Amino acid sequence: MNKTVIELFAGVGGFRVGLNNITKIDKHGHAIEKGPFTFVWANQWEPSTKSQHAFDCYNLRFPSATENSNVDISKVDKASIPDHTLLTGGFPCQDYSVAHTLSKAHGIEGKKGVLWWQINDILKAKKPPFVLLENVDRLVKSPAKQRGRDFGIMLRCLSEQGYAMEWRIINAAEYGHPQRRRRIFIFAYHKSTKYYESMKDRSPLEIISSQGIFAKEFPIEEFAKKSIKEFDFVKGYKDLVAVSDKFHAAFENAGYMIGDKVYTVKTKPILVKPMTLSKIVEKDGVDNHYFLSESQRKKYEYLRGSKKIPRKDKNGYEYIYSEGSMSPYDELSLPARTMLTSEGTTNRSTHIIMDPKENKLRILTPVECERINQFPDNWTNSGMPEKRRYFMMGNALVCGIIKKIGNQINQIIDKEV
Ligand SMILES: C[S@@+](CC[C@H](N)C(=O)[O-])C[C@H]1O[C@@H](n2cnc3c(N)ncnc32)[C@H](O)[C@@H]1O
Repeated sequence: MNKTVIELFAGVGGFRVGLNNITKIDKHGHAIEKGPFTFVWANQWEPSTKSQHAFDCYNLRFPSATENSNVDISKVDKASIPDHTLLTGGFPCQDYSVAHTLSKAHGIEGKKGVLWWQINDILKAKKPPFVLLENVDRLVKSPAKQRGRDFGIMLRCLSEQGYAMEWRIINAAEYGHPQRRRRIFIFAYHKSTKYYESMKDRSPLEIISSQGIFAKEFPIEEFAKKSIKEFDFVKGYKDLVAVSDKFHAAFENAGYMIGDKVYTVKTKPILVKPMTLSKIVEKDGVDNHYFLSESQRKKYEYLRGSKKIPRKDKNGYEYIYSEGSMSPYDELSLPARTMLTSEGTTNRSTHIIMDPKENKLRILTPVECERINQFPDNWTNSGMPEKRRYFMMGNALVCGIIKKIGNQINQIIDKEV
């Protein structure tokens, strides 16, 4: 089996940076890829802007005439995508509910623009043996009114197509990475693989605690077998619409799905010493515009302080919105908080640090944001405005997590024929 990969919703290429252990850019601006994976196709298209900064960055770092696609994934003929061993992608948490179509009695339709259906269509058309996905952690709890429904729909889709899968919610900082970013990682494997054969008779306890892909790279504390919960999303649900209408489950931060059963358990990480902001901040002085003016300092003081604000909801009902205080600036002795796409704008969640050289407050530089996600320095310095560089990092992932998962996938593929 070869090590071909496609990257969906590629952004600036976090999966590729992680899987191919990219730490440097050459003098032409191209990534120096150490391997072992061969990327045969990538797709990235930003619907909300005319300029395609993420794609331009990807295309500069990974130049290629035909393999990088900059069109809406829903417009791509799925059969035309090259064959691949591993499908990767970080996709949004949206409403995955489905209904019977009105026109065709037996047709099933999801909401328009929901990107999960695009992934599902690619799985149907290409049947890659392995799949690695990333999403926000609330995916397992969505929607609030029917907890676990969307994840249940995903499980049912994967199961119908012959996949088993394992998931884990990982807070990167707890495993020694520089950001407190909690994301769900999903690894699915097709029943035609040797890996599936090697896993199918193992117990959920064994898979989640020691033998699964996540346990090997992200060790957890021992837990009792009886704490594992089991849900069925096939029996009692004649089709995807029935899952969509009725299924709900309290999914935890770890789990495993095979056939028509899903097992889940709350796990605790065996903590690794975190990488702190002090290790990644630029120490030799940064440009003046990153420092806070007096008025900006006051604004941040207000934004990060505690407050109670009277507000009206959309029905005209008045309520008091309150938020607690944050520390006036982010301690260098801690890992970064979760970086959002609003990083760098005057916003409560923007990081503020005490510059180690000047001893004055400032925002992070784009390079520091890249380091927080473990991208090479200046990765997004590809011609886009500075504020878009922050945005890209808010959307991206902690590449070091992908690197660790990639180590395991590499070994798994080596054992296939
Ligand atoms: C969460 S981000 C993924 C970031 C990526 N993992 C990285 O490391 O930069 C999702 C990406 O999907 C892209 N996207 C959204 N809708 C899309 C569509 N219809 N077709 C293709 N890409 C889309 C967005 O522009 C965004 O870059």
